[in-house]
Amino acid sequence: MNKVLITGSLGQIGSELANALSERYGVDNVIVSDVRAKTCDDQISGCECAVLDVTDPAQIASLVKKHNIKIIYHLAALLSAVAEAKPQTAWNVNINGLYNILEVAREFGCAVFTPSSIGAFGLSTPHDKTPQETIQRPNTMYGVTKVAGELLCDYYHKRFGVDTRGLRYPGIISYKTLPGGGTTDYAVEIYYEAIKSKKYTCFLKPGTYLDMMYMPDAIKAAINLMEADQKKLIHRNAFNVTAMSFEPDMLAASIRKKIPDFRIDYKIDPVRQGIAESWPNSMDDSAAREEWGWQPEYDLEKMTEDMLTHLREKLVG
Ligand code: NAD
Ligand code: SER
Repeated sequence: MNKVLITGSLGQIGSELANALSERYGVDNVIVSDVRAKTCDDQISGCECAVLDVTDPAQIASLVKKHNIKIIYHLAALLSAVAEAKPQTAWNVNINGLYNILEVAREFGCAVFTPSSIGAFGLSTPHDKTPQETIQRPNTMYGVTKVAGELLCDYYHKRFGVDTRGLRYPGIISYKTLPGGGTTDYAVEIYYEAIKSKKYTCFLKPGTYLDMMYMPDAIKAAINLMEADQKKLIHRNAFNVTAMSFEPDMLAASIRKKIPDFRIDYKIDPVRQGIAESWPNSMDDSAAREEWGWQPEYDLEKMTEDMLTHLREKLVG
């Protein structure tokens, strides 16, 4: 069994991917890592956890060599809102970190999974049914790093034969680990507040449509892509994937079916609103469906039911 390393493992996606990969491949075959040390609040159990800063190439090489790693899920990054607040750090982590991972992958023969994002698109991109291949002129540092990252991964595949693969994730919704400072975070926060106080003040305007996906589908997409027959992959590093598209009022209405007195009001954050308006309303993910069989399981109603059930257990007991 090839050993797997996850970077940025203590984040929203990594903490759930770590458990899924441990169940699939065995805890002894998964090494998790993050720039900070794991604490008892972190949701990961079983596998070995290392402190690894992806901006330090020597640290990556030493960990990969020590464990004979052959597959890297590279999740360490700054998300859109944090990246806009700290653009220099975002460049360093998102670009130099990725470059370091790809260089180590080239040297030690590792396959690499790297998530891109709906943030790789911009205002001049067609917003409805955004095609797989289209205009990509993002106006955020997050978007700049995501487009450059897609290109860098393609380059390492073509030039050096590194088995690089990736997805343009939409906003990911989950109940285990909180999101790390993105524009789509409202769609997670709203469920917590629905349980805690039956009301939520949203930082995006009503009518702001964005692609979204429930965490089990996000995990399934990453694993399915990495296990796909590489001969079938044309768009290796930047597959559009989506499960649903909604705006805040639709999400509130879905919650109201389960919590009838839930209320939403609005206090707009101009930075995150501006970012959201530059992103697609809905993506066309037919390339992922055709090339490796992408098929989401959760729609809005099924996700709301599951989120509220688990958050009640977590927050109320
Ligand atoms: P997150 O912010 O929850 O987690 C990122 C993790 O990276 C954190 O645990 C952080 O400590 C770690 N990290 C930061 N700097 C680091 C460094 N220098 N070295 C090592 N680790 C470092 O992010 P996430 O939501 O889990 O996202 C993972 C990936 O998926 C990112 O590339 C992100 O852009 C992408 N993505 C996420 C979403 C989403 O909605 N969550 C959507 C699209 C794309
Ligand atoms: N959820 C992510 C963000 O808002 C999208 O890449 O930053």
